[in-house]
Amino acid sequence: MQLPNLLSTPSFVQKIQWVADPVSYLENAAQQHPDIFTGKIVGFGETVVFVNHPQAIQEILTNDRKKFVAVGELNRLMQPFVGKSSVLMLEGDRHKRQRKLIMPPFHGERMQAYGQLICHLTEQIFIKLPLNQPFSARDLTQDISLQLILQVIFGLYEGEKFHKLKHLLLLLLDYFRSPLTSSLFLFPILQKDLGAWSPWGKFLRVREAIDELLYTEIAERRQQDNTERIDILSMLMSAKDETGQLITDQELRDQLMSLILASYETTATAMAWGLYWIHQKPLVHEKLLQEIDTLGDFPDPMSIYRLSYLSAVCNESLRIYPIIMFSFPRVVQESIELLGHSLQPGTVLLASIYLTHQREDLYPQPQEFRPERFLERQFSPYEFLPFGGGVRRCIGEALSTFQMKLVLATILSNYELALVNHQPEKPQRRGFTLAPTSGVKMIITRRRVRQESLVTAATTPIF
Ligand code: HEM
Repeated sequence: MQLPNLLSTPSFVQKIQWVADPVSYLENAAQQHPDIFTGKIVGFGETVVFVNHPQAIQEILTNDRKKFVAVGELNRLMQPFVGKSSVLMLEGDRHKRQRKLIMPPFHGERMQAYGQLICHLTEQIFIKLPLNQPFSARDLTQDISLQLILQVIFGLYEGEKFHKLKHLLLLLLDYFRSPLTSSLFLFPILQKDLGAWSPWGKFLRVREAIDELLYTEIAERRQQDNTERIDILSMLMSAKDETGQLITDQELRDQLMSLILASYETTATAMAWGLYWIHQKPLVHEKLLQEIDTLGDFPDPMSIYRLSYLSAVCNESLRIYPIIMFSFPRVVQESIELLGHSLQPGTVLLASIYLTHQREDLYPQPQEFRPERFLERQFSPYEFLPFGGGVRRCIGEALSTFQMKLVLATILSNYELALVNHQPEKPQRRGFTLAPTSGVKMIITRRRVRQESLVTAATTPIF
């Protein structure tokens, strides 16, 4: 099969570079072939065609399900975590059905209900931090992200169940912390249960404990039949497909694990990068603070969400180092031409989000953090695509951008922070994400006295 711009680097060298330093791998390849190239990496079959040109990405994403298929099977790296019925694993009509069932709780109106919760939780976590003591912004945003998962997805706020699930999820999600433990997912051959102390054995046991907890929770909720609850689990439990069928327990478990996996690292990393860029660029910080302050002492979360400079800062942060480097794989269904190359059925394609966001013709001086570019022009969904597109476009886009904006605005309006190191943060692979290597070390230098809180006394849980 003829493949476009096949890289000449030996396949095993490519695989090592891809796992250890994906950004350099992508940048080196794009220097030779800026629009499209074929690489040999791990995880998606023998060869993968990377597409970095907006027009070709548009062709792929608008023809999802026709000329291309977003084959869930190729996401199998995540299967041990999310299960076979996960929306991430399915394709065709089964995928469509699960997406339809999951989508409603993620729509704009529903999001609004979570606004106060997000601001309140951020304050609760920040208020415990001492002044002038270094902390890792990523650890903190991960804490915010996990607690929000427990509150928004499960409707759990405190108590034994909350702490037990939090502890177990942390153990499981920790597997994505280092390249070493992430390798367990990239190389299935390492997935051997050699007892409770072996890495895979431990993973299986923690997963079993989480499953037990989830199935018990689902069974209890089915007994209670509480229609008042608006956490995502409760809403999913009452969702029906077009034939009137409820989602099964196993499907529920798999979708919950998918939402956790898809949201935890991504949103936490996005917030950590946001904090980094804002404090790395004093002028951006100043301009942003001025904008937030125009809202007065008690703005409602939706007015924060609509702030234009804050939106531009978040977009620029997601552009320069997109959290997910590429879309889920798509597979060619019928012979097609893409950017003058003919592709045969079966060819695996990845829309390269990172390389598209680094194109000089779209984003002059792409390594420069400049939010103004999002105020000066509008980018098409194929030029700026941190959440992918087509039939697999991220389900949590609205929730995560809402969360990112509210958390950043809450922190900035209440605290003055500074970066501990002034060297630039380099992006590094962390599981499926592109994260700041040092975790963004910061200190709080001062509490701002101007405001008591960004949000009106939101002291009680809203669910
Ligand atoms: C900054 C945060 C996030 C980023 C950058 C992000 C990015 C992405 C990307 C690039 C995709 C693949 C899209 C494609 O192939 O076209 C995706 C899919 C997905 N995301 Fe997100 N995501 C984020 C947060 C979340 C959150 C908070 C949730 C849920 C609570 C979520 C749930 C999902 C799900 C379920 C899918 C799979 C959709 C499908 O297969 O149909 N994501 N995300």
